[in-house]
Amino acid sequence: MCGIVGYIGPRRAEGVLLDGLRRLEYRGYDSAGVAVLDSGDVAVVKAAGRVQDLADRLSRRPLKGKSGIAHTRWATHGEPNDVNAHPHVDCGSSIALVHNGIIENHGALRRRLEEHGHAFRSETDSEVLVHLIEEYATGDRPFEEALVRALKDAVGTFGIAVMSLKEPEVIYGAKRGSPLVVGLGNRRDEFFIASDPAALLAYTREVIYPDDDEVVRLSVEGVETFSLDRVPQEKSVESISWSLDEIERGRFPHFMLKEIFEQPEVVVNAVRGRLDAENGMAVLGGLRDVEERLRGVERLTVVACGSACLAGAIGEYMLEEYAEIPTEVELASEFRYRKPVLDPRREAVIAVSQSGETADTIGALREAREKGVLTLGVVNAVGSTIARETDAGVFIHAGPEIAVASTKAFLAQVTVMALLAVFLGRQRRMSRVMGGRICREILALPEKIGRILEQNDRIRSVAEKYAHYSSALYLGRKYNAPVALEGALKLKEIAYIHAEGYAAGEMKHGPIALLDSSFPVMAVATRDSVFEKMKSNIEEVRARRAPVLALATEGDEEMYRLADDVIYVPKTLEMLSPILNVIPFQIFAYHAAVARGFDPDKPRNLAKSVTVE
Ligand code: M6R
Repeated sequence: MCGIVGYIGPRRAEGVLLDGLRRLEYRGYDSAGVAVLDSGDVAVVKAAGRVQDLADRLSRRPLKGKSGIAHTRWATHGEPNDVNAHPHVDCGSSIALVHNGIIENHGALRRRLEEHGHAFRSETDSEVLVHLIEEYATGDRPFEEALVRALKDAVGTFGIAVMSLKEPEVIYGAKRGSPLVVGLGNRRDEFFIASDPAALLAYTREVIYPDDDEVVRLSVEGVETFSLDRVPQEKSVESISWSLDEIERGRFPHFMLKEIFEQPEVVVNAVRGRLDAENGMAVLGGLRDVEERLRGVERLTVVACGSACLAGAIGEYMLEEYAEIPTEVELASEFRYRKPVLDPRREAVIAVSQSGETADTIGALREAREKGVLTLGVVNAVGSTIARETDAGVFIHAGPEIAVASTKAFLAQVTVMALLAVFLGRQRRMSRVMGGRICREILALPEKIGRILEQNDRIRSVAEKYAHYSSALYLGRKYNAPVALEGALKLKEIAYIHAEGYAAGEMKHGPIALLDSSFPVMAVATRDSVFEKMKSNIEEVRARRAPVLALATEGDEEMYRLADDVIYVPKTLEMLSPILNVIPFQIFAYHAAVARGFDPDKPRNLAKSVTVE
């Protein structure tokens, strides 16, 4: 949510900053802006809208300086316009600041600062920070001291980059609860700061991750890190494994389609080196240190948001059926505030998150940690807050996911949930034969996913047929009930079609009242243990004249008798069927969005990583 980037070094900052903003645009696209130290001044250029709008403005007013900060905004406080765009400057226009997060006590701070004569320009919470720094940066007081004093006054979350004429060749960064990464240029003569490693990849892979309440000072001489009490901190240099190709669109018109098509490889990467089919085991190095503790776990809670929570819901079915561990899935935003009862001797909490930075999931994780419960992460972003704050975990290795709508990360999360079920199941009563069967079937998934992707054109024509409806009901049972919810989530978030996902058995308890010929139903009706029940539900839908699009198992010709349109998916184990069944729904939503004239990569009002509550 909001992307920030900063640069200092021998290049013209403007180009590096715009490049970084383009790569971060998926974090917010309400407005964009840069501040560059130019001819002894802090020159600020901002524009409502996309990064391209800013680039157009900069082409008329190029900035020559070699250090600067930039921002792409997802609006929280104040509507998206030029004035509310970051960077924000102080009254004297000598300090510029970009911010990701929310300053919760901004109202009180603003009143105090206004009483002291500060004139605010925007409606944002962020602007208080720059005035607060100005308030403290009087006389001979070093800028650094003013900065930490201001940050100590702030309540809430922030990832910031800030520059000042008082220390013109320096950029400061700081964080509390919002992501921040510092990039070290290859020749150590340039340094970068960003809310996401994607902004740095074109320049460096070597990074350091500041912790909460740490400040970083970037100059051409190097990077220093210190606490808010100005105590120097030792940081280790880490390496980003993602490649530049992975964050480029290549031959695809949108990142979302590219990421959907990466999914055979995504499964390969998620399970590489982790399956021992002969012994029916999942080998999860990230759990080695807690292996013994896991043997004693008698209850699991999965906390997550959005698609990650739905991946967790599929995991719940797997973990209960195959590892026989009672499992609950909870929306992180509810879990953290409802005073959950957890027993640290017998329970573990699993946080599932692509970004590893989702504020609600972090909050839930911290709640669990406070109660002394073992915490595990199922995370994509290495170095992220959740990856660092969990006791142990399994990376999903999906590579960078740029499209706001999660596709490949969801698939990798479900795949890792299957690995966890085998790992924990084999610690308990799962037989070697059963473990081996699941492992072999996982290994067969990439080829089967490829068979679904081959139907892209056909799914496009089906999507175009349904794209004009204003509503849709998605139905599935058992393992595929969360798939129905995920299908509906995809359709509403990118095609803006009102869609409901329901466990099919619940349909007759309410939603069936909605159905008529103008309300299509998307049904997961693949051959599994609940197939007959699902068929009955489809009959009930047909009796109300609702158009039906069914997902069916390859070879099931009978389905054409029941449904208006059928998309076939290969057969697999029931527990793994969500991994295949979700893909036609992803492709369907993508083409429905395109048919309706929307950009699937940048759905309105959404941002990739929700770092505010
Ligand atoms: O980064 P996370 O996995 O924690 O994100 C969780 C949700 O915000 C995310 O899955 C969201 O629901 C996606 N837009 C769904 O496509």
